[in-house]
Amino acid sequence: MKHIALYPGSFDPFTNGHLDILHRATKLFEKVVVTVAVNNEKKSVFSGDERVQLIQECLSGTEWGARVQITQFTGLLVDHAKKMGAHTLIRGVRQISDFEYEFRMALTNKRLAPSIDTVFLMPDEQLTFISASLVKEVAYWGGDLGSFVPKHVEIALKNKLHPSSS
Ligand code: PNS
Repeated sequence: MKHIALYPGSFDPFTNGHLDILHRATKLFEKVVVTVAVNNEKKSVFSGDERVQLIQECLSGTEWGARVQITQFTGLLVDHAKKMGAHTLIRGVRQISDFEYEFRMALTNKRLAPSIDTVFLMPDEQLTFISASLVKEVAYWGGDLGSFVPKHVEIALKNKLHPSSS
């Protein structure tokens, strides 16, 4: 049986930290399905389609990208995991402060779908401080995002937040 893992998140935008976790997941699982949570109640900079496109561009030129599929979902995560045939959820944990929320989410998903497990992965130490919300703040004020996100994500963020200067 092919072991499929689902890597869910808002990914608004996809950062170098997300990319690192995704790459690690492809070393552990035969196939990894990245899934972008689209929640119309939640304000996001990029639409679901734009986030999928930006993640897709991160994979071009990588050998492992061929084993990654990118999807979007609205609703319950475990329902999407079942639909995709995934028995494992991947979540990145950067520091202890992430863990309380992640643990609650994993337990909730476990209660909803006992056969689905959550695997926590740590990113490279250099990337542990990166978060999508800080990236957006730095982008908003025109800071250098070179070490936070891939180049095409940086350009897309600048075009979104400062369209007149591009
Ligand atoms: O990148 P994020 O915002 O931390 O990702 C959180 C996400 C989207 C994975 C989580 O909010 C989620 O799974 N939402 C879907 C609704 C759901 O299934 N909720 C129950 C689990 S807490």
